Amino acid sequence: MRNMTETELTDVVLERYASTPDARLKMILHALIRHLHAFASEVRLTEDEWLAGIQFLTRTGQICDDKRQEMILLSDNLGLSALVNMVSAGVPEGATESTVIGPFYVPDSPQREWGESVLLREGDDPTLVIRGHVRGPDGEPVPDATIEIWQTDANGQYDIQDASQPENNLRGWYRARPDGAFLLKTIRPTSYPIPTDGTVGELLRATNRHPFRPAHVHAIVSAPGYRKLVTHLFDAEDTWLDSDVVFAVKSSLIRKFERNESADDAARWQVRAPFWELHNDFVLSRNG
Ligand code: BEZ
Ligand code: FE
Repeated sequence: MRNMTETELTDVVLERYASTPDARLKMILHALIRHLHAFASEVRLTEDEWLAGIQFLTRTGQICDDKRQEMILLSDNLGLSALVNMVSAGVPEGATESTVIGPFYVPDSPQREWGESVLLREGDDPTLVIRGHVRGPDGEPVPDATIEIWQTDANGQYDIQDASQPENNLRGWYRARPDGAFLLKTIRPTSYPIPTDGTVGELLRATNRHPFRPAHVHAIVSAPGYRKLVTHLFDAEDTWLDSDVVFAVKSSLIRKFERNESADDAARWQVRAPFWELHNDFVLSRNG
């Protein structure tokens, strides 16, 4: 086919992908082609603009390495990660909601014992005690659950962004007891700006957007027979909750960290008073 109109071009391209054997792949590619073509037609995209777009995406990929994930950051900033989370989450009533994983998750963080702190910097004391149970949809304790957490240090940076922090500072995983109970220690999280020294920073500046995320602790909770939960615990007192740069706040994930001045409680949890505490259960949905 030659001398095609815009619509004919889209149809011809779709036809060329029509024999894709994997039905799901074919469906995704067809929708992608239709939407990309409609987008370029709608904005009357010029060749210079598309070249600038390709160069932007190329530089975004080039920034990525084992510690920096600018592609995830871009997806997060376009709201695409939050949308994918919405359409794929399907959480049953009563289960803890999920949210985006973000670009700072590192697999294989070290195990922490019951009540151990995730702080690794000499002299740093935990100021936040988080305890609760991992439960199933009927309130049943989930045995053998693991709770993996990660968060920034008080300077708003993750260990992998900040050479002054020991590796795995403020990250680690805990095994819940047979009754689902867990006890972990960390610091109260702070709000922080996402990295702005790359292409996503260019995008934020070009669009007059701020780079802040509300304070949160990330958690991944897993157990045999249950769906893996990727979530956050957001600080209820944070000022950025309604304008999270990556659109990932859900009301059900906002928690009030309670200040506790009791010396007895501090001794019980082996922290210094005053400290912050959060009683929080994670409710998993079943597999399948
Ligand atoms: C994070 O919370 O670690 C995060 C999520 C999305 C983009 C940037 C950071
Ligand atoms: Fe984070």
